[in-house]
Amino acid sequence: MSIRIVTIEREYGSGSRQSRAGPPHTPQAAEASLLEKVMQMTLSPSNDRPENPSADSPGSKSGMPPASANSSSQDAEVFSRLLSTRYSCRGFLAEQVPHATIVRILEMAQRTASWCNSQPWKVVIASGAATDRFREALYTHVAGGAQEASDFPFPREYRGEYLSRRRECGFQLYTTLGIARGDKAAYNRQFLENYRLFGAPHVAIITTDEALGVYGVLDCGAYVSNFVLAARSLGVASIAQAAIAGQSQFVRAHFNLPEDRRVVCGISFGFEDPSHPANRFRTTRAAIDETVTWADALQIEAV
Ligand SMILES: Cc1cc2nc3c(=O)[nH]c(=O)nc-3n(C[C@H](O)[C@H](O)[C@H](O)COP(=O)(O)O)c2cc1C
Repeated sequence: MSIRIVTIEREYGSGSRQSRAGPPHTPQAAEASLLEKVMQMTLSPSNDRPENPSADSPGSKSGMPPASANSSSQDAEVFSRLLSTRYSCRGFLAEQVPHATIVRILEMAQRTASWCNSQPWKVVIASGAATDRFREALYTHVAGGAQEASDFPFPREYRGEYLSRRRECGFQLYTTLGIARGDKAAYNRQFLENYRLFGAPHVAIITTDEALGVYGVLDCGAYVSNFVLAARSLGVASIAQAAIAGQSQFVRAHFNLPEDRRVVCGISFGFEDPSHPANRFRTTRAAIDETVTWADALQIEAV
């Protein structure tokens, strides 16, 4: 079996939106339809195996359908661009995303793979006044001193490289916002922006079934990733928020969710405010050498 690794480009474009109504010929419409195509590929039985894979066709190496070299490289280019231009948006315009666009995001994300195809995610979408009611209630709740209470334990500790990466992105955010090192009151104000949903006109609440345990959460994590990429492909900015899961009981009560639904996270989304300073930085990624072990280079003795 060969492993292909898609290189994440370090080209952090602004991710600016082209056309919200999205006539079919816009670059974003093309990205969305290619992303849809990538997600639909497994649907066609004829896609299972290339019939006559040529030795040098990309399909023969990757197990991908017998796509032409051209379309395969276009798919990779679009996917890579979506990955590299998506970022966590922390300043949104008030303008609503058209309902049809939200439905398209949901339909794309619905193609997410899950263990036994259980598709454990259930999603509450709030728009307009429903978002504002949630925002006001949640902000008041947390600013009033509510303790964090999540359905899943939050990280016990960030250590070593995880701590340095966490510090780096926090430092980037505070620097871009002009917050001085150690200014705890300003840190707290920015933290509370989570509960204003960073001004987003929409929020998606992602929940899993209690009985599915950690793998249900894992499947929902994959769903979140596809949701934000699908949104990006349509020019919609977003941010996943564990901070919302930190108030899971409140969220369940507010949206009248059954007790067996566990809150994984929220995703605030809408159109980016390009003039908001919080949107002016991009996080880095470790080189794959830091995360990948090539087993064929290890000296492993048979036991
Ligand atoms: C599951 C998950 C939960 C997150 N929770 C929060 C959050 O509560 N508040 C926040 O400001 N950012 C949150 N983020 C955004 C991360 O900080 C961000 O993804 C990370 O720093 C990488 O930056 P990027 O998304 O811009 O590439 C979350 C991201 C993920 C994937």
